[in-house]
Amino acid sequence: MRTFQVELKRVVDDSYEIEIGFELMDKLIEDLKAGLVGSIRRFAVVTDSIVKELYGDVLLRKLREAGFAADLFFFPEGEKSKTRRVKEQVEDEMLAAGCRRDCCVIAIGGGVVTDLAGFVAGTFGRGVPFINYATTLLAAADASVGGKTAVDTPLATNLIGMFNQPKKVYLDIATWNTLPPRQISSGLAETIKHGCLGDEELFVFLEHHMDEILRVEPAACAYIAEANCRVKYQVVMKDEKETGLREILNLGHTVGRAIETVSDYRLLHGEAVSIGMVAAAKLSCKLGYMTETEAARVKNLLAEAKLPTAIPDYIDREELVRKLYTDKKVRDGRLRFVLQQGIGHVVRFGENSYAAPIAEDAAREIIMEM
Ligand code: GLY
Repeated sequence: MRTFQVELKRVVDDSYEIEIGFELMDKLIEDLKAGLVGSIRRFAVVTDSIVKELYGDVLLRKLREAGFAADLFFFPEGEKSKTRRVKEQVEDEMLAAGCRRDCCVIAIGGGVVTDLAGFVAGTFGRGVPFINYATTLLAAADASVGGKTAVDTPLATNLIGMFNQPKKVYLDIATWNTLPPRQISSGLAETIKHGCLGDEELFVFLEHHMDEILRVEPAACAYIAEANCRVKYQVVMKDEKETGLREILNLGHTVGRAIETVSDYRLLHGEAVSIGMVAAAKLSCKLGYMTETEAARVKNLLAEAKLPTAIPDYIDREELVRKLYTDKKVRDGRLRFVLQQGIGHVVRFGENSYAAPIAEDAAREIIMEM
């Protein structure tokens, strides 16, 4: 019997640029002409029903005017579209339109669009390049950067997906002007999360400039867009595949993701994360990692951002406790939480460990209090 060694050691350079600015579509076209995705001339613009009308059709026209072959694929707006079925529909439509391995996906929209389209790109023809053009604060703060792509299942959010890095990310702050206030607040939850876990200065900035941000004033928005990227990248560059450190970006998400699913997506992602961050702060406080005053500052800031800070009455608390076990951080059947250390830091529990095992009763107690 012979054995063969298949040598597949790889050196990968997945580095890419994030461009932050106002009205960046023409810059995207320039970049494509300058070879951002090599010689590719065919583009699949993927978006949702709302962003299609606001920006998707404009981008499609600009691509065609620039001489590229382009088609647009869209699905109904909202988290409920982030499913395997919608992914399949987009793929089938792309195939029917003639897209093959020589195309590039451009995801234009919020987190649902960039998560789903990035996943489509990762599996279409065994992988084609993709570009994210983020049109929401939530996508700018979190979803469009870092290379996590996924769909939800009836059991839980984001359990089926892949790490897949885009070729470039555009964060167009001008698009935030067309966001409903509830969506701005939802994006602010991830921004506040970044302040809580890694940037006290950002946290203090938010405490002082919340009104300007809610009014979408350009200078304040540009500041938070940059700060979000900085915090996120300090983490992602060290631990792209979430073997340890990247878990800190899950602050507030253990309870948050569970509430999002139990609410059947009546709560926006950021709204659910906001409640989850209050839960994490309460737990951190109980375990001695935060003072009552610091935990109150977190809750107040979330409230200033017009985010919910208590579990809505219609949520079944026991169902929520059960749902905690669908969290990706669960190990050996045990719940694990990222805990906040004061403002701007998280607790490190070991060499590469940033989530603490928490007894179900301790988690239940916090949930019952809220
Ligand atoms: N949204 C958490 C992460 O990107 O790791």
